[in-house]
Amino acid sequence: MAGGMSSLSLAKRLEVIQPSATVAISTKANEMKAQGIDVLSFSVGEPDFDTPKHICDAAKKAIDDGATRYTAARGITPLREAICARSKARRGIEHDPSEVVVSVGAKHTLFNLAVVLYDPGDEVIVPAPYWVSYPAQVKLFGAEPVVLETTAESGYRLTPEQLKGALTEKTKAVILCSPSNPTGSAYSEAQLRALADVLKEHDCWIIVDEIYGELVYGDFEQKSILEVAPELKERTILVDGVSKTYAMTGWRIGWMLAPKQVATKVNTIQGQSTTNPCANAQYAAIAALEGPQEPVAEMRAAFAKRRGLIVEGINAIEGLSCNEPEGAFYAFVKATEVLGKRTPKGEVLDDDLKLCGYLLEEAKCALVPGSAFGAPGHFRMSYACSEAQIQEGLKRIREALAALS
Ligand SMILES: Cc1ncc(COP(=O)(O)O)c(C=O)c1O
Repeated sequence: MAGGMSSLSLAKRLEVIQPSATVAISTKANEMKAQGIDVLSFSVGEPDFDTPKHICDAAKKAIDDGATRYTAARGITPLREAICARSKARRGIEHDPSEVVVSVGAKHTLFNLAVVLYDPGDEVIVPAPYWVSYPAQVKLFGAEPVVLETTAESGYRLTPEQLKGALTEKTKAVILCSPSNPTGSAYSEAQLRALADVLKEHDCWIIVDEIYGELVYGDFEQKSILEVAPELKERTILVDGVSKTYAMTGWRIGWMLAPKQVATKVNTIQGQSTTNPCANAQYAAIAALEGPQEPVAEMRAAFAKRRGLIVEGINAIEGLSCNEPEGAFYAFVKATEVLGKRTPKGEVLDDDLKLCGYLLEEAKCALVPGSAFGAPGHFRMSYACSEAQIQEGLKRIREALAALS
């Protein structure tokens, strides 16, 4: 076998997982960049800011102070206390540190939840457009994602009627993401209340991903479902982390605030897989949560300004439209009017993958096709980049679309 390909089989469970549809575009964009082509990347899912200095300093100090060894699998107590305190301050909801598990990023938190909650035959409600990992993780454990499509008209929000119609005795969990990746849409207090009223009648787990919860703009007031329906606490799991709020994607710290029985099982799973998340990164996360919040306010102000630019710019391009997102740093662009048009080379752009391929070739703009998020006919444009890049990208996209017939 040495050096050759093995014919040994791999696990059957992998058969349900497709390679990410975004990989083709990002591979091509990277190849073009390597050739010296000036590609503008609008596909990134992380803030373009540096981690604030006081957070980096806390990690350095932690290393000097000996935070170089294993910690408790679920994370150090001071971090879990800081998470509870910050959540209480933001959401008004009390959690005990024993209800918190810190993991290697919120993606890992969600993966752990999939391990602990889903069995073959279970249904998990996932509103689309969805973050790509939700359905993938559900399928990996033999459960079935029940994808509920939402539209631009409903602000890409699940309606209570849709939710009610999809809940069955097989429904194990509902996954909500607010503000959402990829649409930036967030649920208002009234909308959350209406969903909570439906969920009250049905016994299932409620997973709420609030990783973008502190990145909301304008007058929008971010609320958590637990603020409007605290009676759902015994089956609601809040997923959060430092990646987006504090520009800390590389530090890999995320967590859940969960009913104790879930947290206990996740701790067991983590103890048998990764053990603890990186020790010094946990101290950095404490500094993020307990330290000055001005860097977050500055980042929020920059994103708010860019949101204005991108929404206005997209809606000024013929054939494209987008809603004003409440939060996160993505514009979700509807491009159905452009589909079916012909490029100067004669290729018909009959889907969003081809459209994004064309915009990469011609406009040198890397965008993520909506089909990757279960929303064909759209693309996602991240505004985690400079205003100058946004202006230049919009100009290039407008010119490339004007050349279609
Ligand atoms: C909706 C959503 N949830 C969770 C994550 C995971 O974040 P991390 O693993 O960096 O904490 C991301 C990152 O892109 C995301 O967009």
